[in-house]
Amino acid sequence: MKKILPSEITPYSTYLNRRKFVKTASAFSIATSLSLSAKALHNNDSSKYISKLDENDELNTYEEITTYNNFYEFGMGKSDPSNNSSLFNPKPWTIKIEGLVEKPLEINLEDLLKKIQIEDRIYRLRCVEAWSMVIPWQGFPLSELIKIASPLSSAKYIQFVTIFRPEEMPGQKRRLLPWPYVEGLRMDEAMNPLTILSTGLYGHDLLNQNGAPLRLVVPWKYGFKSIKSIETIRFVEKQPSATWSMVAPNEYGFYSNVNNTVDHPRWSQATERRIGEFMRRPTLMFNGYEEEVAHLYKDMDLQTYY
Ligand code: MTE
Repeated sequence: MKKILPSEITPYSTYLNRRKFVKTASAFSIATSLSLSAKALHNNDSSKYISKLDENDELNTYEEITTYNNFYEFGMGKSDPSNNSSLFNPKPWTIKIEGLVEKPLEINLEDLLKKIQIEDRIYRLRCVEAWSMVIPWQGFPLSELIKIASPLSSAKYIQFVTIFRPEEMPGQKRRLLPWPYVEGLRMDEAMNPLTILSTGLYGHDLLNQNGAPLRLVVPWKYGFKSIKSIETIRFVEKQPSATWSMVAPNEYGFYSNVNNTVDHPRWSQATERRIGEFMRRPTLMFNGYEEEVAHLYKDMDLQTYY
């Protein structure tokens, strides 16, 4: 019998009715209003991170999150991913684990999801282009998959690779970017409890435009680090290449931590436009997750390692 995932049963109407819940709710009442399972409620990690929003943060709507996207595999415009991704078929899906691991693996995503507890995580997403959203994701910590992968001690970084299917992804037939899209994290960033692989949002499976069926979410880094529709996870010794830092290394660094004190060469990163709002708001250091992640960079000059 097919197991029903929490991500499939959380009622969409509950989310919509509670759009403003973050203003007043404690971690417990937030979790209740999201109809989390009892198991998730007792999971300290997820309730802690669910509550990591500011009193000024409000969820973006499902409509906003699924129609204003960056996913160059389907075109460069914000509405291209939702308009041009209907041919993309994310089921079934195989994740390839390779590189510095005890044994390379191919994992069927549906089988993996039967074994893994799906959690709710509400995070800010801050794009390097200086717009932002608040998104209620479903997913699981990347560290869970790393455990299954059993990397060797020589593995210091992970590279992620998006699937290459030009017949289903029209942008890949054009030279918009070098394909496939690749990204990377240092191992301690990948193991941080905030880093998740997402399978859904607002209680729905991810739509193609949001990176179905599996995408990374690293909430303290600019959005382009959160690579979509991941096919390969490769454990490596040296800092791997990443698409935007290959294309324009002076504009996009490997780290790309949200940093309101380091401007993009062509625009300021001090403020941002929250989708759905009129006034710009200040950008928070590490996108507001300083307490959880600043220690990862304590001996690094963030002007140099942008
Ligand atoms: N992943 C792939 N494969 N291709 C892309 O073009 N765009 C990135 C990131 N992941 C992108 C990608 C950028 S720039 C951002 S801001 C986020 O996805 C946007 O995620 P969203 O559309 O779900 O909000």
